[in-house]
Amino acid sequence: MKRFALAALAAVMGSLGPGPAMAVDEGSVVRGGRLYDNWNIESKNRPPNGPHPAFTIKGSAVSTTDTWRCSTCHGWDYKGKHGYVGIRNRQGADPSTIVALLKNATHRYGGLMGEASLLDLANFVSHGQIDTQKLIETEHRAKTNVASYEEFYGTICAACHGSDGGRLREVAPIGDAARQRPHEVLHNLINGHPGDVMPPLSALGGDFAVRMLTYVQTLPSRSMSVSVAHGARMYDNWQVETGALPQALPHPAYPSTAHFAADAPTTWRCKECHGWDYAGKQGQYASGHHATGIKGIRGMAGADPARIVAVLRDSKHRFDAVLKARDLLDLANFVSVGQIDMNAAIDQRGRARGNAARAGAHYRTICATCHGIDGQRIITAPPLGRVARANPWEGLHKIANGHPNEKMPALRKLDPQLLIDILAHLQGLPETR
Ligand code: HEC
Ligand code: HEC
Ligand code: HEC
Ligand code: HEC
Repeated sequence: MKRFALAALAAVMGSLGPGPAMAVDEGSVVRGGRLYDNWNIESKNRPPNGPHPAFTIKGSAVSTTDTWRCSTCHGWDYKGKHGYVGIRNRQGADPSTIVALLKNATHRYGGLMGEASLLDLANFVSHGQIDTQKLIETEHRAKTNVASYEEFYGTICAACHGSDGGRLREVAPIGDAARQRPHEVLHNLINGHPGDVMPPLSALGGDFAVRMLTYVQTLPSRSMSVSVAHGARMYDNWQVETGALPQALPHPAYPSTAHFAADAPTTWRCKECHGWDYAGKQGQYASGHHATGIKGIRGMAGADPARIVAVLRDSKHRFDAVLKARDLLDLANFVSVGQIDMNAAIDQRGRARGNAARAGAHYRTICATCHGIDGQRIITAPPLGRVARANPWEGLHKIANGHPNEKMPALRKLDPQLLIDILAHLQGLPETR
């Protein structure tokens, strides 16, 4: 019964090309869509080590693994990308001819994933393509009021993504994704996301999916300052900030002869290798207990966050094994736009270039509720006067960004000179209890 009904439906929709009518298995089509997105994640088969032999674009930013994704060459609108042909002409084609194509000398997917996966891909090419461009443009022209989609979103999606689309740390806020990459997101809404259980909307139709996309485009961005302050607290101690288990083995890049080599969690803190002044120098980082000889991160201030994320994923750092995509981006945003010019704030003898008196009222209100007037109320922390004199770079980093996984406010959006004045005030507090 079901097969018959589906065949009839497919015939009505006219999605079948010439040739014998056959039943369309929607489950196979959407899985094919997810394989098209990323077959390596969806089918749990690894691509070969080198780039795809047909990928001949020199100097592109596409990673080796990504050269094997169908979407890299054929695009999210299925019309082709980087100069490759699209797959739209094969809509309605006999799936067995498409399977043969995927095994040809250009593609070489035979043996890389099971026959069932190749057939799913073929079913997607034949029956799963929608005209994303047309749908998005039509919706744009129609200016449909999508407010009613708040109800669909709130009931279907919010359990995973949160009502603002920002809950999952694996991905960027989905409002940003939908604004920046609408074709890709529409593909995901219809077919689901590779390797996880996000529900595909294909059975509800392309119109439903594109209106959902339009609603998602109204969800908020994550504020840059929130991202940077969180990144800065992870720079301080990401294990504490994210609630991760402390690392059991030392970081591979930490010199085995340096002082903290036996203290594994410490060797994984960014600040331990790159310093509180971000230059790997001040506060015993050039010589003394914390010395590692590793250079700072100042050189990447202003760099494209995507390049910094690539550094954090490289074989030297290996942070992709322990941190989510969102956390890596927050760290990169901190490195790119969040670094304080420490030399402008603190002189060579470690004195804050500020006026303690100007910040007295701020300290006694904003800080003293937790730290006490003398900076000694929190007994797990050393007296603030001592911290501020022994390591003013750390003090200023914390005044701007807060303390990992604590309620301490991050003041980085206030006047930068006020932050330095507060540091000067701390340097006048008693050093001993
Ligand atoms: C590295 C680039 C690259 C990747 C990755 C790639 N293709 Fe292709 N594809 C091509 C090229 C080049 C052609 C045209 C030449 C040929 O078929 O030999 C093509 C042709 C096609 C066609 C036929 C289009 C037409 O109108 O004749 C289909 C369908 C297709 N590819 C599907 C896929 C699928 C599905 C995947 C993922 C499993 C994929 N391709 C991955 C480069 C790529
Ligand atoms: C069962 C949980 C779940 C539900 C329900 C769900 N999603 Fe997802 N969604 C995910 C996961 C998990 C990811 C991808 C995470 C990853 O890449 O590892 C994702 C990814 C996405 C992305 C891609 C973001 C990007 O950067 O590419 C968008 C957009 C999205 N979802 C929108 C939606 C919308 C709209 C709905 C409701 C129709 C929805 N999701 C329902 C779990 C869910
Ligand atoms: C165990 C030591 C260690 C830890 C921990 C560490 N790094 Fe690095 N990092 C290095 C080394 C070594 C280099 C390469 C320096 C070179 O090229 O001379 C480097 C380079 C960098 C660079 C590039 C600097 C440039 O100008 O090229 C950035 C940015 C960076 N790290 C950020 C981070 C961040 C953010 C963290 C924390 C998530 C971190 N690192 C944790 C050792 C470490
Ligand atoms: C809501 C409570 C709260 C407020 C308000 C607060 N802090 Fe904190 N602060 C903390 C906590 C908790 C810690 C971590 C203490 C520990 O190490 O156990 C901390 C740590 C610090 C440290 C690092 C001390 C160390 O552990 O080495 C400095 C410096 C600091 N705070 C300065 C300030 C300043 C200056 C202000 C006002 C601008 C302020 N704090 C406001 C709660 C607060």
